[in-house]
Amino acid sequence: MSRRAVITGTGHGIPSRVVTNKDLEAIVETSDEWITQRTGIKARRIIGPGEHTGTLALAAAKEALERADVAAQDIDTVVCATVSGCYVWPSTACYIQNEIGATRAGAFDVSAACAGFVYGVSIVDALIRSGQSERTLLIGVDTLTRQVNWQDRSTCVLFGDGAGAVVMESRPSGDRGVIESVLMSDGSGARHIAVEVGGTMFPYGSPESEGRGSCITMNGQEVYRFAVQAMGDACCRVLEKAGMNSNEVDLFVPHQANLRIIDSAAKRLELSPDRVFVNVDKYGNTSGGSVPLALYEAELEGRLKPGMVVLTVGFGAGLVWGANLIRW
Ligand code: ACO
Repeated sequence: MSRRAVITGTGHGIPSRVVTNKDLEAIVETSDEWITQRTGIKARRIIGPGEHTGTLALAAAKEALERADVAAQDIDTVVCATVSGCYVWPSTACYIQNEIGATRAGAFDVSAACAGFVYGVSIVDALIRSGQSERTLLIGVDTLTRQVNWQDRSTCVLFGDGAGAVVMESRPSGDRGVIESVLMSDGSGARHIAVEVGGTMFPYGSPESEGRGSCITMNGQEVYRFAVQAMGDACCRVLEKAGMNSNEVDLFVPHQANLRIIDSAAKRLELSPDRVFVNVDKYGNTSGGSVPLALYEAELEGRLKPGMVVLTVGFGAGLVWGANLIRW
């Protein structure tokens, strides 16, 4: 019998420390007005002492399990989408697996930056449809504030820390579940946004790393152009693959990087504001955490109910982009 991957629980993990645009005015030459106009961001959460990627992921994971009413021992796969893991290796998924006591689960990370959760949904959907997984815990999480140069105003104002998680369960073929996904990449654009130093090509302190960035370096305008095109393209492709069109989408939950990028995608899809979920104003760009955190909040606010069609889309460093169409 064919199976569907249904999201049965959502959770979130955010640091308690709120940093507003006004607070950033004391650190770099910027203004609340500039940040608001160019990005739509008003505040972000930033991890403090004792917090790291794993602690945020863990909070999100535990809440998702509770809301799905699933025991950790019944999870067979833990997938974590992150580019700012607890360690260089082993995986953050293994950290979560151990902390929650998912003793029967396999665990691995997905590295697709801000598109990581969208990639994760597609992978988990394939695992469930093929019968390899019955019950997966998927977490999207990043703490990129640990990787920004706090003297670089062109990047430090954009990012925040956060996590979201979902439990995805195998259900007999029916209405609910992941309908379709598309995943895309263009590695020739790797230089546009990256942390180059610290890997094996440019090790820390090596002659090769001279002049390379050990924090996030970004060509903002290039990433902006790419993002506007990629978001719209991914959405159109996933809708086409499913034989659906945008007027069948109840809620659009895009990667929360920049309000102008979200607005342009919504315009291309002809979606009215009431069908677009936005929380970039509160959290900034939480990378892998962005889409699942938005799904969590949308559900909590009653904007996402069983049976609704939700369109998620992500883009990020790689370059990578992709979209999922899900019947909630
Ligand atoms: N405060 C005030 N002024 C600033 C700031 C700041 N924080 N940052 C840059 N400026 C200045 C620039 O120096 C420039 O000044 P100049 O005209 O005197 O040279 C001016 O503002 C305009 O700069 P631009 O870079 O042209 O501004 P733009 O309108 O392109 O907005 C932004 C910049 C917001 C970064 C935009 O390009 C963007 O959102 N790009 C996409 C970024 C993104 O989404 N990245 C995440 C990718 S996902 C992932 O994988 C992590």
